[in-house]
Amino acid sequence: MGGGGTPSTGSGAGRGECFGEGTPTAKQQHTLTLPPEPRWRGQLSARGSLYASLKTSNWRVLEQMHHAGHLRAIGVSNYTLGHLQELLAHCRVPPAVLQVEFHPELPQRELWDFCQQHGIHLQAYASLGCGQLLGRAEVGRVAERQGRTPAQVLLRWALHQGVGVIPKSVSPTRLAENAQLWDWDLSPEDMAELGTMDCSRHYCWDPSGVT
Ligand SMILES: NC(=O)c1ccc[n+]([C@@H]2O[C@H](COP(=O)([O-])OP(=O)(O)OC[C@H]3O[C@@H](n4cnc5c(N)ncnc54)[C@H](OP(=O)(O)O)[C@@H]3O)[C@@H](O)[C@H]2O)c1
Repeated sequence: MGGGGTPSTGSGAGRGECFGEGTPTAKQQHTLTLPPEPRWRGQLSARGSLYASLKTSNWRVLEQMHHAGHLRAIGVSNYTLGHLQELLAHCRVPPAVLQVEFHPELPQRELWDFCQQHGIHLQAYASLGCGQLLGRAEVGRVAERQGRTPAQVLLRWALHQGVGVIPKSVSPTRLAENAQLWDWDLSPEDMAELGTMDCSRHYCWDPSGVT
């Protein structure tokens, strides 16, 4: 349900194990144990149904851990609108958070609306478009008007919409730069200019093909 979108049994995980990065996520590397093999072997012929079954059973595990007080909140990553609707149809505990690629070239408007309506906190990754958006003219113009850096503009753009950001940097200077987001805001003109960049471009990957 998370990062990879599909069960990661082919990426080094032992048989019968499924790691958190491709599953429901509490943003920690939990290892989830699948039910004994006979319960899912029959579904191998229908890959989609196996994935759906894994998603459901893994979410149940997180719900149980949440219910037992081991997890304060549980969430998903790389879910599309369809994935979320599917989860909400069968879950007992709805996801508290959805982490997705989110930036001005991929503003995920439908997903944003849906999360607002259902009280799911949206959290952005790849806010800088893997660095590709730092040099965009629109971002540069807004940065100049605001007296901020392009990275700060891109991060503030998400916060302006109530979306959380988790920028990663190995540089202490950039970490400090990325934290200076709270005592200023973008203007309606800035938001309109950044709004013209929407072209549904993914810099990481597109989970829409995941069943
Ligand atoms: N759930 C998922 O599927 C998923 C997918 C991707 C990422 N993530 C998570 O999202 C978080 C964010 O990572 P991200 O790599 O996607 O994207 P990001 O934070 O938008 O960008 C990180 C890149 O931008 C550079 N950078 C950071 N701050 C900068 C600044 N102020 N100016 C110029 N360059 C800057 C970093 O280089 P330096 O380190 O050299 O500064 C790094 O190469 C990570 O914790 C990651 O684990 C989750």
